[in-house]
Amino acid sequence: MANNDPRILVALDYADPADALSLAQRLDPSACRLKVGKELFTRSGPAMVEQLHELGFQVFLDLKFHDIPHTVAQAVKSAASLGVWMVNVHALGGRRMLEAAREALEGHAQRPKLIAVTVLTSMAEEDLHEMGLMGSPEHHVEHLSGLAQQSGLDGVVCSAREANDLRRLWGPAGLLVTPGVRPRGADAGDQRRVVTPGEAIALGSSYLVIGRPITQAPDPLAALKGIRMEIGEPS
Ligand code: C5P
Repeated sequence: MANNDPRILVALDYADPADALSLAQRLDPSACRLKVGKELFTRSGPAMVEQLHELGFQVFLDLKFHDIPHTVAQAVKSAASLGVWMVNVHALGGRRMLEAAREALEGHAQRPKLIAVTVLTSMAEEDLHEMGLMGSPEHHVEHLSGLAQQSGLDGVVCSAREANDLRRLWGPAGLLVTPGVRPRGADAGDQRRVVTPGEAIALGSSYLVIGRPITQAPDPLAALKGIRMEIGEPS
């Protein structure tokens, strides 16, 4: 059965574009979407996105824009002209930047979903304090998530552990995009406080960003299939 809204976003975190393409050629666009981040995009640029589109995939362009409102508006417009499915910005760019990004996409024939990063999960409380941001990371996540919502964005990137509370704030339509997911028994790598795919969905995540458990698996297709079964996606 074809699935029009697969919830797994496979992070193509490869330095070599040939590796990214070789995995994409083996994957099925009805089973997952693909995330292109800074490493791959900086090396391969729009041509990589075009090639992934030609293979039939929808692409999340994860470049986390953060700049003055005009520059970010133009950047998300450029992303929209590439035809990507989703693009993101930093909520710390502030309300005017967030609104400029949202307005830049209005009326676009193939409007990408626009989501915000709140607090990078690499940031601990002491990192925030060092930057002059007092209070806990949770407080800032909730505050910045509210700002993204008021600015008309479609959702946020968040850890599954935050998803439960954020789902209450966003309601059913908000997009909660969750990295840090590990199938039971998989190597956590450098991720901390990981959750399983089933737990992430139960906590309210809309989409799961999963990289190494699929890309570094001896059999990436089988790894993806196992994760999809765990979250009850039809195969
Ligand atoms: O390999 P792994 O599953 O850890 O990859 C997770 C992906 O999600 C990477 O592309 C990483 O950059 C991204 N990401 C993350 N944590 C965040 C935001 C993004 O791991 N807070």
